Amino acid sequence: MLIAGNWKMYKGPAETAEFCLGLREQELEGVDVVVCPAFVSLAVAVQLLAGTEIAVAAQNVHWEQEGAYTGEVSAEMLQELGVYGAIVGHSERRQHFGETDETVARRTEAALEAGLFVIACVGETGEEREREETEEVLRRQVSVLEGDDNLVLAYEPVWAIGTGKTATPDMAQAAHAFIKTLIDVPVLYGGSVKPDSASELLSQPDVAGALVGGASLELESFSAICRAAIRS
Ligand code: 13P
Repeated sequence: MLIAGNWKMYKGPAETAEFCLGLREQELEGVDVVVCPAFVSLAVAVQLLAGTEIAVAAQNVHWEQEGAYTGEVSAEMLQELGVYGAIVGHSERRQHFGETDETVARRTEAALEAGLFVIACVGETGEEREREETEEVLRRQVSVLEGDDNLVLAYEPVWAIGTGKTATPDMAQAAHAFIKTLIDVPVLYGGSVKPDSASELLSQPDVAGALVGGASLELESFSAICRAAIRS
């Protein structure tokens, strides 16, 4: 079971340091834990979690090793810092920053090639679900990805992200089971996962863990979700 905390554009280096020092003190045996801070906070997270089983991943990664790509960061740069992996294709990047299935594929491929662990995100919008296009959207988004030992997918229905509207465990299970017919990698669930909803979601047969946004920002709620994963 894998629990990843996506901190989005929260927590600079000082808050990251405070969180990581607290996280070190938690009993987290029996669950794989990853934190995904903003680029500027990666170094301090790597430093403070060194010697623990907790991994640090970035929230994005570029496909070139270096070049004239203002504002981007390469897999090699992340590795130099001791970063373990990266999230790719988060719906916020698709929505606000022009990320496409094609760029998601390029980022994923390059990151895996460089030896990073990748969490690639897929998921339908509320409108797409209403139009009963969920499977079609997932099929399109997954079709550009290839199975790899260092790849996991995160099913994040866009309508459930930051809205408090969690997918029901049955809905999550159905989407995960469908994704598993397309690609043979573990699938995390993301979208308003909270300590209260975690256990039931995580006990679904095809839910391999969670990608947590809001509830990963507080040590108490994040570690409660990690403990739920240990029990699942
Ligand atoms: P929330 O848990 O805040 O809904 O965010 C989910 C998410 O986007 C994780 O990547």
